[in-house]
Amino acid sequence: MPLVASFDLLRKARAGGYAIGGFNVNNMEIVQGIVEAAAELRSPVILQVSAGARKYARPAFLSHMVKAAIESTGVTVALHLDHGESLELAKQCIEGGFTSVMIDSSAKPFDENVAITRSVVEHAHTRGVQVEAEIGRLQGVEDDVRVAHGEASYTDPAQAAEFVRRTGCDSLAVAIGTSHGAYKFSGEPRLELARLEEIARALPPGFPIVLHGASSVPAEAVAEVNCYGGRLSDARGVPEEAIRQAIRRGVAKVNIDTDLRLAMTASVRKVLTEAPEEFDPRKYLGAGRDAVKLLVAHKITDVLGSDGKA
Ligand code: G3H
Ligand code: 13P
Ligand code: ZN
Repeated sequence: MPLVASFDLLRKARAGGYAIGGFNVNNMEIVQGIVEAAAELRSPVILQVSAGARKYARPAFLSHMVKAAIESTGVTVALHLDHGESLELAKQCIEGGFTSVMIDSSAKPFDENVAITRSVVEHAHTRGVQVEAEIGRLQGVEDDVRVAHGEASYTDPAQAAEFVRRTGCDSLAVAIGTSHGAYKFSGEPRLELARLEEIARALPPGFPIVLHGASSVPAEAVAEVNCYGGRLSDARGVPEEAIRQAIRRGVAKVNIDTDLRLAMTASVRKVLTEAPEEFDPRKYLGAGRDAVKLLVAHKITDVLGSDGKA
């Protein structure tokens, strides 16, 4: 089974009332943990590579690992560039076999965002590659971008519709109160679900909406990190029930990175703390891989509803 197009997965998910996990990958154990869970549950998944991940792993490595994972499990996988910041980067990833790319010019003024997104769409579509774009701004931190509280802005439904019409993008990331990282809310978690409904109504029927910053930051994972020497205070994510509600309102792709990081970090810390004499990386990275697999299986069956859909 070769890599598949994200678009087909997302359209089917939207029509079927479930969502596809957009899981970020940074190393071999993360790729394997996700793909093994997906294979056992017959769930499609989108594996996504950020600019930072690509730089960390070196450009060709993650995409080759993903292809190897497909070869060995036959799982249905789309390979996606997460938060691409330029046409140049999108071109390189398309050249490297990615099946979809995100262009994130959400920090730019509306017309500039439209123009850059349009240029990526024109390049990608002639090569059979789909494009995710973003309008509205999520607060939070990624490798190369930091968006402070006051600079975040929610997606306007009418603008979202105009943006999709003018750019021809295939899916749209929206800002409805989520943010990247482990510190999403200082008070009670709150998503603007009414706004999401309006956005879904304004977009063409069945158009796939993407929710970034959708990690739930499980209290048990945070507690485990802290129990084994970590220091994460006041970490808080999006409740899983809120994600389910967002899926019912049109979200077809749910982006998860932080929860994978927490799962892996907690288990690596546990092994190294409980067996201080251990120095074989396979022991702690292997435990990390198992933790990633467990987490992804939980997301697929209990949150996304994508099991059995491959
Ligand atoms: O949305 C951002 C992802 O969590 C990727 O984060 O840029 O640190 O790889 P990164
Ligand atoms: P989290 O930080 O909530 O996992 O979000 C990841 C994400 O949006 C990747 O694009
Ligand atoms: Zn994101």
